Amino acid sequence: MKILGIETSCDETSVAVVEFSDRNIRILSHEIASQTESHRPYGGVVPEVATRQHLKHLNPMVPRVLAAGGMSLKEIDGIAVTRGPGLASSLMVGLSFAKGLAFSTGKPWVGVNHLEGHLFSAFLTQGDLPEKPHLGLIVSGGHTQIVYVKKPGEYDVIGSTQDDAAGEAFDKVAKLLGLPYPGGPEIEKKSRSGKGDAIGFPRAMLHKDHYHFSFSGLKTAVRVYLQQNPSILESEEGVCDVCASFQAAVVDVLLRKTMKACQEFDVETVTLSGGVSCNGALRAAFQSSGKEKGLEILLADPVLSTDNAAMIAAVGGFMLRAGRGSEWAEDVDPNLKLY
Ligand code: KG4
Ligand code: ZN
Repeated sequence: MKILGIETSCDETSVAVVEFSDRNIRILSHEIASQTESHRPYGGVVPEVATRQHLKHLNPMVPRVLAAGGMSLKEIDGIAVTRGPGLASSLMVGLSFAKGLAFSTGKPWVGVNHLEGHLFSAFLTQGDLPEKPHLGLIVSGGHTQIVYVKKPGEYDVIGSTQDDAAGEAFDKVAKLLGLPYPGGPEIEKKSRSGKGDAIGFPRAMLHKDHYHFSFSGLKTAVRVYLQQNPSILESEEGVCDVCASFQAAVVDVLLRKTMKACQEFDVETVTLSGGVSCNGALRAAFQSSGKEKGLEILLADPVLSTDNAAMIAAVGGFMLRAGRGSEWAEDVDPNLKLY
């Protein structure tokens, strides 16, 4: 079945058509309009700006994506749209659009959990959904979670951040260093020329007997360090060392907690998704540790790591095949949880 996916949960407007058959997913057409430039002057996502951008981009994007895939709306079997979590007004644009499209065409539609989308994104490039239980690490600007995936559709969140998400920490530390938004890619760039062991930033909750995370203390540690060592910002080498040491602390905690969970939950596969999973150091650390421990590490393609509609269409196909379409009364849920 061909599914039209729509994603407007935060600051990316995205539309995709995905072919979903049994356990196999194939992307037929896909477009993402990033709003980074519109939000950069404010140092973060401004909800009203995001909503206006979604309104501007979504309408022309749907026929454009269909045409790029050589399809018409008639050939679409269902519509999938993100219904949460995310910014309420941004979600409303996509959901209202999807409902209108479903109503006018008579096609089934389904509201999708954005986090479930991220979990599916690691399987978009290789094509097949997994047969065996595995762990999914979601690391984005809004979420940091380790999820035990018994099978697609059955999830148990075994650990999540108690305060800031990993991506949020990257963005906040970048701001402290005077680097532009979004901070993750900027910190990664500077880290390449810095020493990860230059400053011993804390690794919160590393030795606790649970899989939760905390990143706000790390951000505070960077701020305090900068207050006590203001001259470090005067040299490029100093800035690069702060970036590399901060990044090393984040990677260390994410890697060691996830690997410990792999042992306890006895899984052979780990997926990485969400914007922070674009980070080269994080990807390399997981790949090298996976190799050492005989684990399969599935990394979402960097283009599909950040918010996109292909992952939403894939989940939508899975749900519609299982007869789990949505009712008209279904609304956005900015705080939607992963079961
Ligand atoms: O998944 P995403 O596009 O949006 C959310 O659902 O939040 O993730 C955006 C987050 C931002 O915090 C951004 O700084 C971070 O992902 N990010 C990175 C990198 N690229 C994006 N963090 C670290 N290293 C990167 N290369
Ligand atoms: Zn996301």
